[in-house]
Amino acid sequence: MRKTVAVLATLSFLAIAPPPAQAHGGHDYSLRNAGPRDLRIGSAVAGGGHHVDQPYPDPFPNDKPYRKVLAREFSSLSPENQMKWEFIHPERHRYNFGPADDIVKFAQRNGQVVRGHTLLWHSQNPAWLNEGTFTKAELRQILKSHILTVVGHYRGKIHQWDVANEILDGNGAYRQENIFIRELGPGIVADAFRWAHQADPRAQLFLNDYGVDWPGAKVDAYEALAKELLAARVPLHGFASQAHLSMRYGAPDQLGAVLQRFDDLGLKTAITELDVRMDLPESGVPTAEQLQTQARYYKTVLDACLSVDDCNSFTVWGATDKYSWVPVFFPAEGAATIMWEDFTRKPAYFTLRDTLRAAR
Ligand code: XIL
Repeated sequence: MRKTVAVLATLSFLAIAPPPAQAHGGHDYSLRNAGPRDLRIGSAVAGGGHHVDQPYPDPFPNDKPYRKVLAREFSSLSPENQMKWEFIHPERHRYNFGPADDIVKFAQRNGQVVRGHTLLWHSQNPAWLNEGTFTKAELRQILKSHILTVVGHYRGKIHQWDVANEILDGNGAYRQENIFIRELGPGIVADAFRWAHQADPRAQLFLNDYGVDWPGAKVDAYEALAKELLAARVPLHGFASQAHLSMRYGAPDQLGAVLQRFDDLGLKTAITELDVRMDLPESGVPTAEQLQTQARYYKTVLDACLSVDDCNSFTVWGATDKYSWVPVFFPAEGAATIMWEDFTRKPAYFTLRDTLRAAR
């Protein structure tokens, strides 16, 4: 009898209790806990890059409300600039790990993983590298030692590395602006993956690029490259679309099919830098219709990720318009993220959360 009462008491408690807290601090209604458990929801962590010229202090270390949003909403963080060569390796014989270390520590405290970005890229390289004169052997050694040092420094702490970033152009040719590819040839890509794997055997190693949201020459070239690397037993684990989108060009309704081609090769896939920019009206404030269209684009990308088996990471490039790179790089376009400057949420945020919930 007493037992029965106890059971009933337990049951009635369950009936009135709020839904059980999800993992990581019980942020029940945040993006990070809305969706399937094996899908990480990420954001870029603002700092460095274009922020240096803006009239505010470096965002991540200084903006407490912003840090709260990052902790509450996301289960993955991507340093926006803090692991790029110019930032983390400013002089030939000096590394600057402090700011990226702070992000990694913050992530660990908050039950988040980190995406490392990036190791082999044509942009945001330090002057000492761009303007130095090196023999081919020296340049190869510089890349090798950078990758071993940086990936080794974060060994065991990085979920996924964007090893090769934007290495192909719109026609699918190797980008000659990339100093390592130009000087050492495209074979250096395989070496970069091998070195990264050597330094952190557990990190998932990715190819990452924009302009791969629709089928075409660039996607064909990445598919061929992925096959070639896999056939040579290079430790390539994933293919990612950055997904920097503009409402000028239509929603990426074939992205799921693109991701499926890489999933079919046995690779993981990811969305790594999603934002959806729009032409702002004169008022600077998007119309209700624009916000609905933007929400639909965000949903199209999330649906694409959800439609393939191994898309395990979905990251937006900036949680808030307050720190978005878009107005700085694309004149007349803006409002590209899922939150306003005061962190209130746009329709795109709610659409993402509803879509994640429905996919649980
Ligand atoms: C951008 C950053 O958001 C800016 O702060 C910086 O000034 C320039 O780079 N593709 C990438 C990202 O892989 O690293 C870029 O980030 C956006 C395009």
